[in-house]
Amino acid sequence: MIQSLRGMNDILSEDYERFEFFISTASTVAKRYGFHYIETPLLEETALFKRSVGESSDIVGKEMYQFTDKGGNDVCLRPEGTAGVVRAFIQHKLDKKGGIHRFYYHGPMFRYERPQKGRLREFHQFGVESFGVASVYEDALMIMMVADILKELGIGYRLKLNSLGDQHCMPAYRDKLVGFIESCGDAICEDCQRRKSTNPIRVLDCKNEKCQSLYTDAPKLINNLCEGCQSDFDTLKSILDQHAIAYEIDTNLVRGLDYYSKTAFEFVSDNIGSQSAIAGGGRYDRLIEFLDGKSTPAVGFALGIERLLELIVMPESVREGYYLGALDEESLPLVLKAAESVRRTQKAVVEYDPKKLQNHLKGADRINARYCAIIGENERANHTIWVKDLVEKSESLIPMSQF
Ligand code: HAM
Repeated sequence: MIQSLRGMNDILSEDYERFEFFISTASTVAKRYGFHYIETPLLEETALFKRSVGESSDIVGKEMYQFTDKGGNDVCLRPEGTAGVVRAFIQHKLDKKGGIHRFYYHGPMFRYERPQKGRLREFHQFGVESFGVASVYEDALMIMMVADILKELGIGYRLKLNSLGDQHCMPAYRDKLVGFIESCGDAICEDCQRRKSTNPIRVLDCKNEKCQSLYTDAPKLINNLCEGCQSDFDTLKSILDQHAIAYEIDTNLVRGLDYYSKTAFEFVSDNIGSQSAIAGGGRYDRLIEFLDGKSTPAVGFALGIERLLELIVMPESVREGYYLGALDEESLPLVLKAAESVRRTQKAVVEYDPKKLQNHLKGADRINARYCAIIGENERANHTIWVKDLVEKSESLIPMSQF
């Protein structure tokens, strides 16, 4: 029997209800904040991700679904959403147009990771990207938006915050850090030896315990910020304080993608096991230039939908729509007709097998219908339909002409 690929799941109706509830809640919040929907292709040129997410990242280095298409193009399934949105932003010349452009999106992402609880090879993100606002107020807006979405879904979280500096302070810090890493000699893991020359700050979130204990003495980026980055970071913290959004400063939060500068943040949950990041984001003011666009400040985030699904508290489901059935074969055409008129405005589910009233009522319960509407010999003779309101527990005979 053919099975779905490892780390790739079907979403069946019960889960889909949660999925749909999440998308509609998050989209409503995004629209309230003035964001517009954008859809970009699942397949892009591999070069897009190499130049944005970064060749030294695990995502590009180890996890891409990459292949040559029939036209000989080097392509891959998108591992994340930001790069494609930035590509679209530049391709449609919105960078040249100037002004503020705010987008939201959702859909599948693909990373060839080792599957485990909360870590899939095909997973879904809901993300937003904002272009054209350099003010740190926009960074705060991003965080407030995630907090709003999680609040509407009844999900608790911890927020981790860091600043990754910019082109003024990062190079000097990087040199300092490389000096420190070199002082560790061979004591660090192989991955960190490689990171030392490709992207030294990634050593800070190395999962190796020995490395972690060595790095407690590493210089902290947060103590090496230039004046501009420091003042923005202070402003961000005070905006969050004013909005009563609690945060923890995590100096090792470097994120797994290379395009960030200044603000970096992650929302984590303590209730879903080791893959605890439920959302991540930050500022990426240099990325548009890197991809040959006109320099434009930008900031965004993405939520991991699968990790949220187990945490969502669904509102109590309310009975809705009609269940319609016949007591005998002859009444079925009339039932179908009645269903057709209901369907113009409400849900109508027809049971084709004629059966006793009691069994129809059970069927209506099973699909959580508000009304159970039945036609039998008497109703047919009198041109009526018997309707029970399963919330009010009231019954009535309604003339078919008025149904
Ligand atoms: P990211 O941190 O790589 O950021 O992913 C965002 C979220 O996607 C994570 O916090 C996690 O919930 C979920 N996620 C990531 N990998 C997996 C996986 N293998 N299985 C299940 N869930 C996963 C980004 O992708 C950036 N594009 C976010 C961003 C937008 N930054 C700026 N704008």
